[in-house]
Amino acid sequence: MSDVSFYREEFLNYLESKMLIKEPENLYAPISYILKLGGKRLRPVLVLLSTEAFGVSYKKALDAALAIEVFHNFSLVHDDIMDDAPLRRGQKTVHEKWDLNTGILSGDAMLIKAYQLFENYSVHQFKDLAKLFSRTAIEVCEGQQYDIDFETREDVSIQDYLKMIEYKTAVLVGASLEMGAIVAEASSQLQKEVYEYGRLIGIAFQLQDDYLDAFGNPENFGKRVGGDIIENKKTFLYLKALEHSSEEDADQLRHLYTIFPSDAEQKIETVKHLFETSGAAKSTQDEIFNYTQQAFEILENLAIKEEQKKLLKELGESLLTRTI
Ligand code: IPE
Ligand code: IPE
Ligand code: MG
Ligand code: MG
Ligand code: MG
Repeated sequence: MSDVSFYREEFLNYLESKMLIKEPENLYAPISYILKLGGKRLRPVLVLLSTEAFGVSYKKALDAALAIEVFHNFSLVHDDIMDDAPLRRGQKTVHEKWDLNTGILSGDAMLIKAYQLFENYSVHQFKDLAKLFSRTAIEVCEGQQYDIDFETREDVSIQDYLKMIEYKTAVLVGASLEMGAIVAEASSQLQKEVYEYGRLIGIAFQLQDDYLDAFGNPENFGKRVGGDIIENKKTFLYLKALEHSSEEDADQLRHLYTIFPSDAEQKIETVKHLFETSGAAKSTQDEIFNYTQQAFEILENLAIKEEQKKLLKELGESLLTRTI
């Protein structure tokens, strides 16, 4: 029986075989750099697992898996520019190692590369894959724009936030699973159901990402801890803290989220303290658990092979306890 690490290894071998640095080097070296930097490879593994869950060899899904991972990494290169992030997977971000223009153009090329990989499928699969991909990619852009807009908006609701993370993150997780179903030629009903599992896991995943951004261990997190606090990101932690704090604490928090003090560490410490004392840290954990449970209910009722169902659940559970 194959386990999750088998699919990850197979994906990594495929990625390695497809990476070549061509001229101009300043376009291709950053692409190779970011793709080889590591990462959890969650999305491509989901594509492969999903294909097998519907009874078709993962080998047929390697190009779709690569497309999703290349797109994901493109979104990270541009996201790090937008979030002014210095670190990614424990190393310099592309725009820090090279420069802004390099990050923009290499990112653009990756988006195109991702699309190109669908050309390796039959005409009708190409159409379904490209259609899903385009819809998803545009939603990711919408989510990313909301994320940036919310930095300077003071009227963000929990509902707004949930929609934003659904778009910027969860839809791609859903699409990864749906792509596996498309490659396996599963029915459109099953494609929708498996997408829904991914969407719910994806929401839990972004809530956890936001939690770790504040409370992760700088030794192994791989990104700058407190980056979201510095950038005034209106996360679930922040919105819940406002909801459950005294008026005085809420005022302080609101004020801190309008400024960029030179002593960022002091701001981060104060905000994290408020996240904890207000109970926001705990509510975030509860919400992560709730979304994961909802996802598991969908998974339980899904008509797929038991072996991969077990692996999909295992993967979902491992996300609950992740530290990176
Ligand atoms: C980071 O994604 C961006 C989010 C959508 C939260 P991952 O946490 O999957 O990043 P890597 O690929 O494992 O580095
Ligand atoms: C990123 O969300 C979502 C996308 C890249 C589309 P974040 O900005 O929270 O991701 P990280 O924390 O930088 O990985
Ligand atoms: Mg970011
Ligand atoms: Mg971001
Ligand atoms: Mg984040």
